[in-house]
Amino acid sequence: MAQNWTPNSWRQKPIQQVPDFPDLAALSATEAQLTTFPPLVFAGEARRLKNQLANVSEGKGFLLQGGDCAESFAEHGADTIRDFFRAFLQMAVVLTFGAQQPVVKVGRIAGQFAKPRSSNIERQGDVELPSYRGDIINGIEFNEKARIPDPERQIMAYRQSAATLNLLRAFAMGGYANLENVHQWMLGFIKDSPQAERYRKLADRISETMDFMKAIGITSENHPSLRETDFFTSHEALLLGYEQALTRVDSTSGDWYATSGHMIWIGDRTRQPDHAHIEYCRGIKNPLGLKCGPSLTGDGLIELIDLLNPQNEPGRLTLICRFGHDKVAEHLPRLIRAVEKEGRKVVWSCDPMHGNTITLNSYKTRPFERILSEVESFFQIHRAEGTHPGGIHIEMTGNDVTECTGGARALSGADLADRYHTHCDPRLNADQALELAFLLAERMKGGRDEKRMVVNG
Ligand code: PEP
Ligand code: CO
Repeated sequence: MAQNWTPNSWRQKPIQQVPDFPDLAALSATEAQLTTFPPLVFAGEARRLKNQLANVSEGKGFLLQGGDCAESFAEHGADTIRDFFRAFLQMAVVLTFGAQQPVVKVGRIAGQFAKPRSSNIERQGDVELPSYRGDIINGIEFNEKARIPDPERQIMAYRQSAATLNLLRAFAMGGYANLENVHQWMLGFIKDSPQAERYRKLADRISETMDFMKAIGITSENHPSLRETDFFTSHEALLLGYEQALTRVDSTSGDWYATSGHMIWIGDRTRQPDHAHIEYCRGIKNPLGLKCGPSLTGDGLIELIDLLNPQNEPGRLTLICRFGHDKVAEHLPRLIRAVEKEGRKVVWSCDPMHGNTITLNSYKTRPFERILSEVESFFQIHRAEGTHPGGIHIEMTGNDVTECTGGARALSGADLADRYHTHCDPRLNADQALELAFLLAERMKGGRDEKRMVVNG
């Protein structure tokens, strides 16, 4: 067990990104209430995810992590969750085919509510108000009342996470994810996009394979892996009072686990080694993510790895790199070398979203070509360094939104106003997400061919 650690030891440390709750007694009462609620996930599930990530760290798998930048109370319908899950499954199937390796599926969902902000204040015209920090903290409406942090929102976020997770579990285990349904995962609005034809062809090949397997007696009835899938949840562990309230001892191992989600990550703004967020995360046994931005040095990274994964346990730590398309070549190689030199076991994942945000026509957006470019560089750099490009981390939705420009339908700056729905950062729509998956699959296939040439040549 981590030394001198308790679920509340973070309270003794300096902390960034804390909301200004006006009523601290009400906050404590809410946290006390949350401690009496059932866990959302179980330690055994978090361990299962850690084992799968351990395989990824050894080059035997690929991590697909994605979902909303910020979940919202307003968008909690079954259709939104289902459409996200469909788009995600489509991506996963495309990647499995490309990598010929298991794809570990982790949603940014069922708990992804709290947002770090670069400014405490939002200004509109002459009016200044506290920034929106995610529905678990305050409201997005630009008025004074909405922006006051309200602890009751944590109860709502907990309940929404429970309901979302319940539906996701049903989709993953109850037949929806059955590979026999591979054609039905296609979303209506992408039926006439270039991705649709590519996807249909791939789905045909999968169906053909399934027919062959059926002929020799392997069916989804006798092989659960054809009809069920593991789907895990994740979010940024930003609101530590909420996390602490859901931190529980696992009765089998006696270890502490965050039960708010299977995997939690530390944001780029809250990764100071002597601060509260690192303190909290070091003591729980879940798989962890660590966002790595341009300001992280090689030594700084090793110091954080020492704190977060002192036993060098494979699968424990995923480094989520988010440099920007024009900075990845400068920063990624030095971090890879620092980690390799020290022999640390990590999963390398690429977040091509957070370093590529620009403002266009007053909208925060991300050009699809920059997202692709960062992913391409990430793969090339890993190939050159001889390390495994282990995953991607993206902000996406199953809805037909217009938040990122570009892609096969060439969304322009003028299109952004049409369906710009995100509560925080711009997300890939399902069409763009699928396009990204096809591109990645090609890169992975390329990597396999290269390896074969090395082995044979
Ligand atoms: C996020 O993932 O939504 C986020 C805020 O990322 P970062 O901490 O990398 O800026
Ligand atoms: Co974001």
